[in-house]
Amino acid sequence: MKVVRTVAELRDTVEVSRRQGRTIGFVPTMGALHAGHLSLVEAARSQDDIVVVSIFVNPLQFGPTEDLAAYPRPEEDDLAAARAAGVDLVFLPSVEEMYPPGRATEIETGPVALPLEGAARPGHFSGVATVVAKLLNLVQPDRLYLGQKDAQQVAVIKTLVRDLSFPVDVVVCPTVREPDGLALSSRNAYLEGRQRTTATVLWRALEAGRRGLEAGERAEAVEEKMRAMVTAEQGAELDYAAVVDPDSFGTPAAAGPYLLVLAVRVGRARLIDNMRVAL
Ligand code: PAJ
Repeated sequence: MKVVRTVAELRDTVEVSRRQGRTIGFVPTMGALHAGHLSLVEAARSQDDIVVVSIFVNPLQFGPTEDLAAYPRPEEDDLAAARAAGVDLVFLPSVEEMYPPGRATEIETGPVALPLEGAARPGHFSGVATVVAKLLNLVQPDRLYLGQKDAQQVAVIKTLVRDLSFPVDVVVCPTVREPDGLALSSRNAYLEGRQRTTATVLWRALEAGRRGLEAGERAEAVEEKMRAMVTAEQGAELDYAAVVDPDSFGTPAAAGPYLLVLAVRVGRARLIDNMRVAL
């Protein structure tokens, strides 16, 4: 496994593989790698000849009061995990390497980036779109692997790829969960003691929402049910609970498909999760 930290080295290394006619699968991450990230690597390995992983905690996508400084950066563990998972190339740039002084361009994201995570985290999706666009230009992969865990991010990046004609296929991989339903996330590391149990309220509320829709309840009633479950949970603070259209993130069609989405604070952690329901 090769590790590169500069744009020049990355371009040179990728260029060699490309000239050999190999396909490139790309998994962008912010590190603190867990089985969710590694499932994307596994998917890339099964479809592409070369797997490139980027590890970069992107300051552009963090708000001024968010956890940029606290975000975990276990570099040695990440490199060991990437090596064990069969990654070919890791791009691990510094902030200065990615964003030299004078950087001014940012990508504006459209309506899909406005509600929910977009409303709770102003500028977040613009920061995500900007870094992903830059990474796509650097790696020039055949396929880009993303997790369904961040459903709105998937919708924003699919729109970016389509609107700016990036020559890449977007592959979306299912959310990897703990046995009790908690979606794996680097931010789960912030959970202490009882908070870990409290955090399962996201999965429990999604499951209750799914059962409600399957029993013929209306989307508004299901939203209320999920809100009530989270609000009743001690130690959990509801940010939002909604039932939306999985592609537009607007109002779902009466017959679905539906996406149940949740954001909940538990202690220092702000956790998000979602579930797709088609009747
Ligand atoms: P990060 O949160 O590190 O996630 C990297 C990728 O792993 C994303 O596509 C995310 O959806 C996926 N992922 C995270 N947890 C997962 C889980 N439990 N199951 C399946 N996939 C999971 O998302 C980002 O980084 C950044 O916004 C990034 C796209 C790298 C841009 O900075």
